[in-house]
Amino acid sequence: MASDENESGMGPEEVATFLATDTVAIDDETNELVIIDQTRLPNDLVIERLRTREEAWRAIKRLEVRGAPAIGVSAAIAFYLDARAALAGEATGEKGLPLAATTSWDALSRRMDETHAYLDSSRPTAVNLSWALRRMHDLALSRHEAGDDPAAVVEALREEAHAIRDEDVRTCRAIGENGLELVHDGDGLITHCNAGRLATVRYGTATAPMYVGQERGYTFHVTCDETRPLLQGARLTAFELMASDIDAQVECDGMSSSLMRTGAVQAAFVGCDRVAANGDVANKIGTSMLALACARHHVPLYVCAPTSTIDMSCPTGADIPIEQRAAEEVTQMWYTKRMAPAGVGVYNPAFDVTDADLVTAIVTERGVARPPYGDSLARIMAERG
Ligand code: MRU
Repeated sequence: MASDENESGMGPEEVATFLATDTVAIDDETNELVIIDQTRLPNDLVIERLRTREEAWRAIKRLEVRGAPAIGVSAAIAFYLDARAALAGEATGEKGLPLAATTSWDALSRRMDETHAYLDSSRPTAVNLSWALRRMHDLALSRHEAGDDPAAVVEALREEAHAIRDEDVRTCRAIGENGLELVHDGDGLITHCNAGRLATVRYGTATAPMYVGQERGYTFHVTCDETRPLLQGARLTAFELMASDIDAQVECDGMSSSLMRTGAVQAAFVGCDRVAANGDVANKIGTSMLALACARHHVPLYVCAPTSTIDMSCPTGADIPIEQRAAEEVTQMWYTKRMAPAGVGVYNPAFDVTDADLVTAIVTERGVARPPYGDSLARIMAERG
């Protein structure tokens, strides 16, 4: 493996701080959503503290916090913080003007409707975002119906935001345990984008079997697709694996078939932004190309996803909304000069759909689903309730 040691990167102390810091947290003392700014990695560890729904929306949109589960947890916390601020008379409205305290249920309810729709508009593909907002909002409505006053509703929202965050840690850990049956000591693995600890609170989804395996003494050799155009594989996955002493190398996205031809890859592990009821999966653009290469080279493709990513209301992948992003991400970002002619048309979907028949198994916190997915996913979701 060639290596590039020209850049110094982060020092050992910063790496240790990174490993000790959850990707998304809530600070109850200061009423802030606390995230690692992922746009600054792997060069700088920057912890961001967000107070308003506008700051949270922007952080999700700009991918400062990203990855389906991390987006969901962030949105849940932002929803609570906004309700708290509204009740305390600390929220702002249009043009940043302060709003009167929403002490009545009607005023709080209107604010929650608005905040729900607003946060939900930040990114369309990862279903965890709308799942988390729905769960928070439903809880508020049911507590009001049960007779709670606005202050008690807001306190229940605080507890629910914590619960969603804590569940994410347990869920990813369980995905790691369940995925362990699919790997062996010494395996060469490949992954796409970042479905690692940075995409969740801790552990990640696709990386969870790697981290749990490492705890049991397994070694892995992990290839990270760099993942054009935003380079989450190179910037984030390679960084977090190396920080955890897991052997990692980076390749350009188009190289995976060539690598598989050498026999160096025993399995592919990817994350997912939405699983349709038939087992089609939407994940970072390029995943379906990786899946096609896996099929050609008889490498199993495992999709790791919490059940909050499974959307039984979406019959197939064709029903999943795919985010389109700015042309500049392809033509200019990361370069000192533009790398495509000015005015050129750009196709820049952030996600693609991998057909269910290319997916060997879907690893959830409730077990490993195998084809036919119509049956296995329905069973897992029914058990979950
Ligand atoms: O655009 P991103 O960086 O949010 O895309 C993220 C992915 O595609 C991840 O693979 C996915 O969210 C799985 S997260 C465990």
